[in-house]
Amino acid sequence: MSVNKEIKKVTTNTLQKMKAAGEKISMITAYDFSFAKIFDAAGIDIILVGDSASNVMAGHTTTLPITLDQMIYHAQSVVRGIDRCLVVVDMPFGYYQSNSDIALASAIKIMKETGGHSVKLEGGEEAVDSVKKIVSAGIPVMGHLGLTPQSIYKFGTYNVRAKEIDEAAKLKKDALLLQEAGAFAIVLEKIPAVLAKEVSESLHIPTIGIGAGGNCDGQVLVMHDMLGINTEFKPRFLRQYLNMYEQIDGAVKQYIKDVKRRNFPNESEQY
Ligand code: KIV
Repeated sequence: MSVNKEIKKVTTNTLQKMKAAGEKISMITAYDFSFAKIFDAAGIDIILVGDSASNVMAGHTTTLPITLDQMIYHAQSVVRGIDRCLVVVDMPFGYYQSNSDIALASAIKIMKETGGHSVKLEGGEEAVDSVKKIVSAGIPVMGHLGLTPQSIYKFGTYNVRAKEIDEAAKLKKDALLLQEAGAFAIVLEKIPAVLAKEVSESLHIPTIGIGAGGNCDGQVLVMHDMLGINTEFKPRFLRQYLNMYEQIDGAVKQYIKDVKRRNFPNESEQY
C-alpha cells in the first residue's frame, strides 16, 4: 500500500514519509473551486495556488503584478473544492521581501483568510530569516529555488538556471539553508537534472521539480500548460496531457452554430 493511499489527509508529515518510502509526490497548480475539486478527487497530493495565476488567470506577462488579496481570493476558492490534498499558497511579490515581520504578517493573513495549509516563497539565503519566522509561528513553508519567476527582471530570461559552477554551488547551499530554517519541501525550477538529483539526495525534505528532471522527489506542472489550455507555452520539460484548447474551441464553435441555426434549444430543452 502506498503512503498516499493509506492516509485520509495529506500533510507535510505525509510528504516526509513519501520521500522516505521513495514514493513520488504529485503537485499541480489550481486557482479555482471547480478544477481544485477535480484534481483533489483524482488523488493529487498537493495543490499549489501559484502566483502563476497572474499569468494564466489575469493575463499578465509576469507573476509580479498579482496582489496578496487576489492570491487570497484564488486560495479561498481552491480550499472550498478540496477534501484531502495539501494546499500550498504562493506568497506574491512585494509581500515578503522587505523584511521577516512583513513576511510573517502576509503568511498569517493567507492562513487566516484562506484555510490553506502552508505557504511558498521564492529565494534562498535572503529568505531564510522569513522562513524561520513563519515556521516558528507554526506555518509550514515550501521554498522555491532555481528559476524564480518573481526575479525575472534580474535574470532577464526564462532560461535554465544554475548551469555554471558558482550558481550551482549557491543553489546547493541555499537548499541546505532552507532545510535548516525549517522548510518542509523545496520547488526546484528549471535547473540541470544532475544538479536537482544531487540536491534531492542531500536533503531529508522532499524536492518538487519543474523542468528539473526525474530524480526530484515529486513533480509540479501548471494546470493550464499540462491540460493544453495554454498552447503557446511549449518548453521541453512540459508534457501536455490534453488539448483542452482544441476541445473547448470545437465545443464553443458548435454551440455558436446551433444558436445561429435555431438548433439550440430544441423542444426537450425548454419548459
Ligand atoms: O506559481 C507557480 O505556478 C509556481 C510553479 C511553477 C512551481 O510557482
